[in-house]
Amino acid sequence: MIGFDEKKQIFKIDTPNSSYVMGIVGGEYLAHLYYGQRIEVNDLGYLLDFPEEDLINASVGNGEKVSFMDRLPHEYPCHGTGDFRQSCLKVRGPQGNWGVDLRYAGYEIVSGKPELDGLPATFGDDGETLAITLRDDCLVLKVKLLYSVFPGIDCVMRSVSVENQGTDMLYLEEVLSACLNVGEGDCEALSLTGSWARERHITRQKVDVGVQLIESARGISSHQHHPFYALVSEHAGQESGEVYGMHFVYSGSFQGIVEKSQHGSHRMVMGIHPQDFCWQLKSGESFQAPEVVLVYSGTGLDAMTRNLHELYREHLLPRKWVYQKRPVLINNWEATYFDFDQDKLLAIAKEAAGHGIEMLVMDDGWFGRRDSDNSSLGDWKVNEEKLRGGLKKLVDGVNALGMKFGIWFEPEMISPDSEVYRAHPDWALRLPGREPAQSRNQLVMDLSRPEVREYVYESVAGILRSANISYVKWDMNRPLTDVGSSYLPADRQGELMHRHTLAVYELQGRLCREFPDLLLENCASGGARFDPGMLYYSPQIWCSDDTDAIERLAIQEGTQLLYPLSVIGAHVSDCPNHVLGRSVPFETRAVVAMAGTFGYELDITKISEEERAAIPAQVKRYQAYAPLIQQGDYYRIASYQDNHYYDCYQVVSKDKKTSILMFVQVLAQVNRPSRTIRLKGLAIDRDYQIDGKVYSGEALMKAGLVMKRPHGDFRGEIIEISMFSR
Ligand code: GLA
Repeated sequence: MIGFDEKKQIFKIDTPNSSYVMGIVGGEYLAHLYYGQRIEVNDLGYLLDFPEEDLINASVGNGEKVSFMDRLPHEYPCHGTGDFRQSCLKVRGPQGNWGVDLRYAGYEIVSGKPELDGLPATFGDDGETLAITLRDDCLVLKVKLLYSVFPGIDCVMRSVSVENQGTDMLYLEEVLSACLNVGEGDCEALSLTGSWARERHITRQKVDVGVQLIESARGISSHQHHPFYALVSEHAGQESGEVYGMHFVYSGSFQGIVEKSQHGSHRMVMGIHPQDFCWQLKSGESFQAPEVVLVYSGTGLDAMTRNLHELYREHLLPRKWVYQKRPVLINNWEATYFDFDQDKLLAIAKEAAGHGIEMLVMDDGWFGRRDSDNSSLGDWKVNEEKLRGGLKKLVDGVNALGMKFGIWFEPEMISPDSEVYRAHPDWALRLPGREPAQSRNQLVMDLSRPEVREYVYESVAGILRSANISYVKWDMNRPLTDVGSSYLPADRQGELMHRHTLAVYELQGRLCREFPDLLLENCASGGARFDPGMLYYSPQIWCSDDTDAIERLAIQEGTQLLYPLSVIGAHVSDCPNHVLGRSVPFETRAVVAMAGTFGYELDITKISEEERAAIPAQVKRYQAYAPLIQQGDYYRIASYQDNHYYDCYQVVSKDKKTSILMFVQVLAQVNRPSRTIRLKGLAIDRDYQIDGKVYSGEALMKAGLVMKRPHGDFRGEIIEISMFSR
C-alpha cells in the first residue's frame, strides 16, 4: 500500500480508491504532488518536472529562492523562509527570531501504526506507516511526518512530531498536523458550524482568493465550529464530485484554514490553534502533534461518510463497546433539573423499569450543596439530604429494579462557592491581578497541576468505587478563559490550553483502565466537545442540549456526515420542548432518537398515559434495530435543510439483507398525495419485502419506493426493508 521509488524519488500511498503522492525536489525539499483517485501505475516521476516558468527550480541557485519557496507545494510548509501561504510550523529560536527551512533527511516504512504519546489516535495492527524525516540543521530540529493507512479504508492518517536535537531551547509557536495542496478549479469549503443547541449544521461556502478559517480558541472543540474541513468540487453532492476532507483527532482549540493562492491553487491546513500556544522544547525533547484524518472521495459525500464511519468503528472507538448494545437509559435532567431526591429518582426508575428501560442516569445536582448551577462543582461528596442513606442505597435500589445506574460529573470545573475552592483558590485558571471570568457561575480547574489532576481523578474514581455504577456522563460546561496558571513558569503559560486537553485525555484514559466495564459518555453543554479525540475514550457523546426532534434532524445530519450513528447520544424528551417550545408527536421524537444511542429524558411518571404506553414498543424496536444501527452502512437520502419538507436516510446491513428507512415529514403539503424515494445500498439483483409487498432491489433504487404522504406536520416513520427469497 505504501512505496518509495528510489530512482524517481517518489513516495506513493495507495488506499482502495485513492492515491497520495509526494516527491523529493532537488534531493532536498519534500513536495506534495497528488491526492485523488487511485492511480495504478507507479511511473509518476514526471510529476516532479515542474515547468520552469511555473516553479523556479531550486537547482537554479539562490537568486530566486523566495519565488521557489512561495510556489512549491510544500508537504509541510514552514514559517519565515519564503513560503508566504499558510504555514504549519513556526519556531522561535534562541535569538528570539523565527524561521524554519526543512530538508529531506530519510524515510522508513513499517507495518502497523505507532501510538501517539499521550494522545488519542486511530489504531490497528493491520496498518502500514510511512515515516519521513525532515531536518533543519541550523535549528538542529528534526521533524517526523507520519502517514498511516488501514486495509479497505480510503483514509490517510497523518501526524507530526518535532524533536529538538540541539543544545539551545526552542519555542514552538505553531505546529499544525497536516497540510494539503490541491490544484486549481472552483471549490467550496464544507464545514460544520453552529452554536449552543444548534451544533454541526452543514455549511458550504465558495472558496475565493484569500483565506477562509474555522477555529476554536475556547479550549474545547466547540459548538461554533467543528474540527473538520472539506474542500469539495463545486456542487458536489451525495454521489458526485470530489471531496478532500480533514478531520482532526483533537478536543481542544484548533484551526483549519482553506487558502486560494495568487496562482489559483488551494492549500488546506489543520492543527492546534496557534493562538495562545507556545510550547517550550528543551534540548532532547519532542513534541507530538495530534492526528489528522485525511479522506478523499471521487464520488461525493456518501463515500466520505462511509469511510469515516468504518474508520472510527474499526480503528478508534473503544473495542469493548463498539458493537455492544448500549442500555436504553432514562436521564433525570429535563425531568427534575436540580429538584430531586431519592424518592423521586426511585419513582422514575420504577416506572421506567416497568416499561423496559434499562438504566437510570442521575444528572447534575447530587453532590455538595448543588441546588442550582451556582455552587459545589469540585465538592464531589454525595448530598445526603437529597439522597438519604447515601449513594449506595440508591444504586442498590435501582439495581433491585433490574436497572443499571449511571451518574453525572463535571470534573474539570470548580465553583467559587465550594469547599475545594475556598481551600485552594490557586486550583482555578486565573490571570494574576484579575478576577477570573465566570461562566455558568464556574471556573476551570488548573489541570497542569499534578495535585489537581490527582484530586479530580480520585473524586470521580472514589464515587465509582463506592457503588455499582455502570455509566458516567462526563460534562464540561464552559470555555477556557483567563488561561493562566500559578504553577507553570512565565515562559510556559502558552502550554496551558494544550495541557488542559492532554490532562482530560490522561484522566479519561486512567478511568477506562481502572473501570474497564464502565460506559463513558462525553458531553459539553450538549455537543461542544463532540470530536474524534473524545471518541477514543467514550463510545458515545451527547449530541446536543437541543432535544427538539425537528432541530435534531439538522444537528444529527451534520453529525452523521462524519460519525457512526452508534456514537450519537439521542433521547426522547417531553413537549413542549424545553429549548424550543415546539410540540412534536411522541412517535416522531422516538423515530429521530433511534438515530443514535436511544434513551429518554423526561419524567416518565408525569407524561400522558398514551405516551407511557408507547414506550415498551419503542424500546423493543430500538433493541431490534441496534445491531443494524451500530454496524450498518448509512446513506443520506434527503435533507430537510435543503428541501424544507422532509428528511430521510437509510441504514443497510453489510450483507444487504436488512435495511431501515427513517422518514420525517417536517411540513405537510396540500394536494401532493405521494412521494417517491429512491433507496440506496440494496442488492441490485435481489428482491425486497416492504409492508408485505415484494419489490426488486433494482427498481427500488432506480425507480424508487412510492410512499403515501403522512397527514400533518412533524410525522416520522420507520420503514423496514428485508431481502426476500422466493
Ligand atoms: C449540560 C448538559 C446537560 C445537563 C446539564 C447539567 O448542559 O449538556 O445534559 O447534564 O449540563 O447541568
